[in-house]
Amino acid sequence: MIIKEPTESSLNEACALLASGDVIGMPTETVYGLAANALDDKAIAKIYACKNRPQFNPLIIHIADLDAAMRIGIFTEAALKLAQVFWPPSERAGSLTLVLPRSKDCPVSLLATAGLETIAIRIPNHPVALELLRQCHMPLAAPSANRSNSISPTSAKDVLESLGNKIPLILDGGSCAVGLESTILDMTTTVPTLLRPGGLTIEAIENVIGTIQKQPHNQSIKAPGMMKRHYAPSIPLRLNALDRDLDEALLGFGQTDVPAHLNLSATGDLQEAAANLFRMLKELDNPNFSKIAVVPIPHHGIGLAINDRLNRAAANI
Ligand code: TXA
Ligand code: MG
Repeated sequence: MIIKEPTESSLNEACALLASGDVIGMPTETVYGLAANALDDKAIAKIYACKNRPQFNPLIIHIADLDAAMRIGIFTEAALKLAQVFWPPSERAGSLTLVLPRSKDCPVSLLATAGLETIAIRIPNHPVALELLRQCHMPLAAPSANRSNSISPTSAKDVLESLGNKIPLILDGGSCAVGLESTILDMTTTVPTLLRPGGLTIEAIENVIGTIQKQPHNQSIKAPGMMKRHYAPSIPLRLNALDRDLDEALLGFGQTDVPAHLNLSATGDLQEAAANLFRMLKELDNPNFSKIAVVPIPHHGIGLAINDRLNRAAANI
């Protein structure tokens, strides 16, 4: 049985799995998360592969305390105030995710934030999640632990039904007290902007920092991939390239006829390619080249998300 009560031994097992790049089911007060080491590109690629999403939505990064949060995100005064009031261990802790600029040396996987320059952070208000975060000593990226387009899981059994054949362990933290996702607030706009209504009410937030900007319901969940600030290289991308011009950088996949400057996966492994995508695009985005030519990437499995991202990056120029 992969569902386990949180005990010393199952928590140790969870930490070992996370350290080795696996994904596990983690309870939070909102919904169950599919958690992986946020510093590990390959582990993040596994999350996307498990969820079977055709896009790389940026993921929420879960951390144990404010100190850890301040190492990965840049806090404004208002953000700090909200964190102090609404993140554990505050007595008024609620379910709030803050979107902040990534810190300068932020070690979080570029794939986890879908190449954005911002990062969504929260401290879950659940004893098992907090204990896991404290013991594993790493930030955990965790989207809701369901396949794309199915409803969010609020019990360990829900996770088992949705993803049981894909993950090695689900920590059982009982049924989720909140039962819907965290409220997401973008702190990078002049007036903080609601990106997703959720567990913490707008009124509670406005009581602390004053009026916020409310966007139409669900706009950001429906179309996070359309966000303007998605990373695109500063030089043009040429997709489905079968050859390379002299002044182009070639980004390969599998065996290429002409030598590639970098290869997303020499063995043609799409999950490995996803893990390398943002890092390699950034690396090739340099003035020595006039363009980045990318060989064709298969359109199946996580390849769909890779092609989606490449198409957006190409159109963004
Ligand atoms: O309650 C929750 O927040 C749950 C539990 C597991 O913590 N997690 C969750 O994650 O709902 P997920 O992946 O299903 O939703 C993450 C959403 C993305 O779809 C996107 O809309 C937003 O968070 N997001 C993440 N990073 C962002 C960023 N840098 N800028 C704007 N939006 C971001
Ligand atoms: Mg979700």
